[in-house]
Amino acid sequence: MRNFITIEGCDGVGKTHQTRLLKQFCEENGYNNMVFTREPGGSDIAEQIRKIILDARNTDMDDLCEAFLYSASRIQHLKDIVKPALEQGKVVFCDRYVHSSYVYQGLGRGLGLEKIVLLNEIAVGEYMPEFTVFLDLNPENAFKRKGGADKTDRMEAVEQAFHAKVYQGYKKLIAERPECFEVIDASGTEQQTQMKLREVLFRRGVLR
Ligand code: TMP
Repeated sequence: MRNFITIEGCDGVGKTHQTRLLKQFCEENGYNNMVFTREPGGSDIAEQIRKIILDARNTDMDDLCEAFLYSASRIQHLKDIVKPALEQGKVVFCDRYVHSSYVYQGLGRGLGLEKIVLLNEIAVGEYMPEFTVFLDLNPENAFKRKGGADKTDRMEAVEQAFHAKVYQGYKKLIAERPECFEVIDASGTEQQTQMKLREVLFRRGVLR
């Protein structure tokens, strides 16, 4: 869907920080038609679902329950934030979206890509991103840079092998559908990554 851009990457890669820097740049340069949001969460009910998903005390959560909760949060967030903004002609940047479910639940948890693609087709219908920015840094280096995984976050706390599968999952999706992705090397400094991100957005005509 035009004007709907999603940002993906492994935990700790700096997605949230990059999105914040981009938001600041847009505000300072008069782009007042941009909406920055995130998943899971991004609206009141969706943020409540986020808390349940990420609560480290929920150690017994079933993997399929987790997949449905991410989709449930997605449905609500689409209704509350994404659809209204796109209808008003705004550009929506979403920190994580369906590709996170494909790789974390489908491949990382091992529920199977087909099942998670189907679940998300039901959840989002035609609301697929125009393109997806992938911030490329392997999880080992990403966690090292941020000083280790946050053990109070149920997903970050999962063993390193899981995060390695997630990273390989992203690589597989990109190899299969390169036209859907803009891959950015995120191994440099924050500023270098931010400049690469802006270059992509200028090239794609999102920034002018
Ligand atoms: P965040 O740390 O980027 O806010 O994302 C929260 C965690 O949720 C992160 O570990 C990635 C994970 N996640 C999934 O497993 N599936 C999903 O569909 C989404 C959106 C996030």
